[in-house]
Amino acid sequence: MHIESDLLRSLAEKVGTPFWLYSAPTIRERISEIREVTADGVQARFAMKSCPATRVLEEMQKAGIWIDAVSGNEVLRAMHAGHPGGQQPPVILYTSDVFRDNGLPVVLEQGILPNVGSAGMLADLAAAGYRGDVSIRVNPGFGHGHVNSCDTGGPSSKHGIWLEQLGEVAAKAEAAGLRVVMLHAHIGSGPRFEELCENLERLAGEFAALLPQFPHLQGVSLGGGIPHNYRQADAQIPLAPLRELFARCRETLCRAAGRPIRVEIEPGRYFVASGCVLVARVADVKTTSTNEKGQGATFAMVDAGFVDLVRPAMYGSYHRIEVVAQDGGERAVGPIVVAGPLCESGDVFTRDDAELLVPRDLPQPVAGDLLVLHDAGAYGYAMSSNYNSIGRAPQVWLEADGSTSLISRRETLEDLLRAEVNEAI
Ligand SMILES: Cc1ncc(COP(=O)(O)O)c(C=O)c1O
Repeated sequence: MHIESDLLRSLAEKVGTPFWLYSAPTIRERISEIREVTADGVQARFAMKSCPATRVLEEMQKAGIWIDAVSGNEVLRAMHAGHPGGQQPPVILYTSDVFRDNGLPVVLEQGILPNVGSAGMLADLAAAGYRGDVSIRVNPGFGHGHVNSCDTGGPSSKHGIWLEQLGEVAAKAEAAGLRVVMLHAHIGSGPRFEELCENLERLAGEFAALLPQFPHLQGVSLGGGIPHNYRQADAQIPLAPLRELFARCRETLCRAAGRPIRVEIEPGRYFVASGCVLVARVADVKTTSTNEKGQGATFAMVDAGFVDLVRPAMYGSYHRIEVVAQDGGERAVGPIVVAGPLCESGDVFTRDDAELLVPRDLPQPVAGDLLVLHDAGAYGYAMSSNYNSIGRAPQVWLEADGSTSLISRRETLEDLLRAEVNEAI
């Protein structure tokens, strides 16, 4: 996503820094890419956990993309953006490993299809009086996310019901009046596209083998996990082969069932990663010197931190960084560490999962320059926090015609204090 420097400078003046800037055309482009690969009768959902902004959810709704929600509030946010509740068809799917807060009541009241990840959740549904259709999330024993700590399938993954236990769990569900109408697995967005394809075909094969045990099955979800190339914007995976692959998976499943089976996918990252940047201001540049403990470094101290974008601190994730000189001048390139304002030594954007500091060759910024962290749309604002009592940064929406609007304001102290009470219990 390329944004003109003048626009960035003018927005920074208007809303302050840091701020998030979404590009509607970039998000729409990704939506149409997904629509293209699902054109042969495959239903796409948006894993809204990656970016729950109402404007983004509305774009999905207009494009006929269904929703995968993880909490009661995500269901209600999707409905607020125009996605219908109910199961005819199940536009919103509720996928979680545990019911908490309003999760169970929302499923019951809004008639949402629950996608359960444990036998206990089926028991919770039955105990709450739910009698109806359910989806079961399976741990197929393989698959992994974009980093080792994202473990989406296998013995060390917490997600879903272990495949060998599925028969027993499903039998209990049916006995309790819960009809299993969908099987689901999410095998993650591993770094290699070939691996994703192999895993998807393997998953479809395993689900096909299970079909005879599930006479009421109507749908199968192959999960999310379409990778985004964070390092090279112009070297994205060729998505086109997925169209044939999804069609083949659908054919395998329909043949095995002897009836139409709805095949679903539910990417999050691919829809939105490229469609948003986090814009920060360089507050200062300072250096340390080499001594017996290690190498000296040049630190560009910016006003964004892991309260805004946590992915580098949490997973060692890479985000491309662009320096926008305040005066439009040229800057010499040199190794820079980009660090934030938080009282945590891990508040560093140029790092990986092993090293705290991985200096990056960047135009050497000076105080006042803007610094743009690219590809921040997925698990960006969605994972931001109020650590250090910092309010969440505002979100700005850039339309195709160049107009901009504020879609969420900067959080204030009042926002942070709103939930505090002093009530005897
Ligand atoms: C159940 C489920 N579906 C979909 C996704 C979306 O994955 P991605 O954003 O990598 O496409 C996730 C990610 O955590 C998930 O847990």
